[in-house]
Amino acid sequence: MKEAIKSTQENPLNSLDQWEDDLLARYPDPKAISQEKDTAAFRNYETPEKASVKEFYRLQHLNQTYDFVQQKRAEYLKFDKMEMSVWEAFDFLNQLVDDSDPDTDLDQLQHLLQTSEAIRSEGHPDWMVLTGLFHDMGKVLCLFGEPQWAVVGDSYPVGCAYADKIVFSEFFAENPDFKNPLYNTKYGIYEPGCGLDNVTMTWGHDEYVYHLLKDYLPEQALYMLRYHSFYPQHRENAYAHLMTSHDKEMFKWVDLFNPFDLYSKSAVPPDWKALKPYYEDLVAKYLPAKLRF
Ligand SMILES: [Fe+2]
Ligand SMILES: [Fe+2]
Repeated sequence: MKEAIKSTQENPLNSLDQWEDDLLARYPDPKAISQEKDTAAFRNYETPEKASVKEFYRLQHLNQTYDFVQQKRAEYLKFDKMEMSVWEAFDFLNQLVDDSDPDTDLDQLQHLLQTSEAIRSEGHPDWMVLTGLFHDMGKVLCLFGEPQWAVVGDSYPVGCAYADKIVFSEFFAENPDFKNPLYNTKYGIYEPGCGLDNVTMTWGHDEYVYHLLKDYLPEQALYMLRYHSFYPQHRENAYAHLMTSHDKEMFKWVDLFNPFDLYSKSAVPPDWKALKPYYEDLVAKYLPAKLRF
């Protein structure tokens, strides 16, 4: 019981999906706005449901320090935890089923398939379909024991001032880096226009899946994977001062990808049996037989 209490304190969300539902409230689908229920009610962070989202952001902002990220990078970017085929990896990821939520939550593979199928239906290149299928594979970090705030949540740079455009930015006051003169200026440890490749991002599922797949997919796909939760930039444009013109060009692909991630959720599960042969060929075209996690 004590364990359970500790675990809700560390992991306030009912499921990782709760963060994505909150994103949807913050950035509603422009095509669906007329059907939107009372948005103000949905964004009331004092309701018990939303209070857990607020607590989640508090933990994320308090704990994502520069040193924390370096420590996680050293731990995970060795990829010495497991070796799995792609399909074993999807089975593994699907253990992240949420039994505390009675809603019609689809499993992880279904969100990934809805994203990839939405991309495919609009005739985008096959590597982008594959990117849709894989973009949340980094959520396996939860199964390696990482708390929710080190897996999901909007991503942002560490090592420089936290932008006030970040959701619940008031919670950064509790982060030790907030008072560290090395890290709390506009540029911090970075140079103007240094390029995002030289910028350390928060630790989470985006950075992890980028490193997992960086040898196999085109650069546009890698930007989509690495920055798909970087809402403070792709929606709020709060970090353009760290980007090169090439980054800005590549962010057109991140912008293209985002609506497929955010707005493709539907209660109808894709017909995996019918789709499987297509995805088996696609995976075989780009990826090795085994991936190291
Ligand atoms: Fe994601
Ligand atoms: Fe996603």
